[in-house]
Amino acid sequence: MTDKYHKTWNAETACVHAGYERGTAEQGLNTPIVTSTAFDYSRDDQVRYPRYMNTPNHRVVANRIAALEGAEAAFVTASGMGAVSAVFLGLMKPGDHAILLDGLYGGTTDLIEGLLKPYGFEFSTWDGNPVSLASLVQENTKLAWVESPTNPLLRVIDLEATAEILRERDIVSVVDNTFATPILQQPIKLGFDLVMHSATKYFSGHSDLLSGAVAGSEELIARIRPQAVRLGSSLNGQDLYLLERSLKTLALRVERQSANAAAVAEWLEARENIARVYYPGLEADAGHGIAARQMRAFGGMLGFRLGDAVSPDRFLRKLELITPAVSLAGVESTICQPSRTSHAKLAPEARDALGIDDRLMRLSVGIERVEDLIADLEQAVEAGV
Ligand SMILES: Cc1ncc(COP(=O)(O)O)c(C=O)c1O
Repeated sequence: MTDKYHKTWNAETACVHAGYERGTAEQGLNTPIVTSTAFDYSRDDQVRYPRYMNTPNHRVVANRIAALEGAEAAFVTASGMGAVSAVFLGLMKPGDHAILLDGLYGGTTDLIEGLLKPYGFEFSTWDGNPVSLASLVQENTKLAWVESPTNPLLRVIDLEATAEILRERDIVSVVDNTFATPILQQPIKLGFDLVMHSATKYFSGHSDLLSGAVAGSEELIARIRPQAVRLGSSLNGQDLYLLERSLKTLALRVERQSANAAAVAEWLEARENIARVYYPGLEADAGHGIAARQMRAFGGMLGFRLGDAVSPDRFLRKLELITPAVSLAGVESTICQPSRTSHAKLAPEARDALGIDDRLMRLSVGIERVEDLIADLEQAVEAGV
């Protein structure tokens, strides 16, 4: 018996059960890890090969992610960038045009600058205001790409208004939902066509697995997936199983991380030596109103700017519990300077224009006890003065 997924399940239930196929491995509750790269095709005439994304481990995880996003279909890749590149190459050809939210994740910008532009793909940047979106549309515009909340300034985009403008003009809308996860935000229900994930982040959640995913309609997924296969972006069976296992606790982790982040953001906001806090859960944050409408909670990521009296290097060195690290969304809290990590490849002028300098910190709040996190931040801010 196969349960693809149950349409009425809530996210917490879907995390644990969606996509799981009963009746395998002596009725075991876990999906067996299929390690084969060669399969006998003589009995059912099926050509199976892991790069074609047609193994049981791929199917279960893809169906679970589709269920969580409220999508018809999904596929899983060996990294978030494997998913990003497949979407662009699946929906565009040289000479086509795409609209990009300004300040996207540095790796996405690097793909565009280093590969897609030199091959003749055309792009315009959008400031995120729905009012200015329509004026960027050209005859050859095929897709628009946004993130919400953004990395690292946690800017919130009105997804419903954006999707409506794009849909009226037949432009495919894509959102990188890595920061929010489907636990907090389901862009497809707000009218978006495609959702992309760096599954390396909240989906895997333990800082030990590189992976990505795309979810959307059967029709769009059928156009994009072959590019991921051609590019060799498929994930192996062992890692697919790890991802399946991690997804079971996604809702629990994200809820705790969001609650911790909200408490840390409020604490930072009240500190003298913190110049600014970027967190859509704060009432003073510019994105609060929209975030409150389109998100269930405000997420585990926040940004803050150290005041002039605090040395960024000393602050980072003094942290004892929170680790300076490049990736994010693990169960353990990590922190980084985007100017030296995620956005290091951007030209200095582009970084300055976005407000990404050495005083800006991006904090990924984990599942620890929040009092311990605040105590660590407090002693490091004091020591940094
Ligand atoms: C928002 C966002 N999108 C995409 C990516 C790329 O994902 P990956 O590193 O898994 O290739 C990242 C990685 O940090 C990210 O933060």
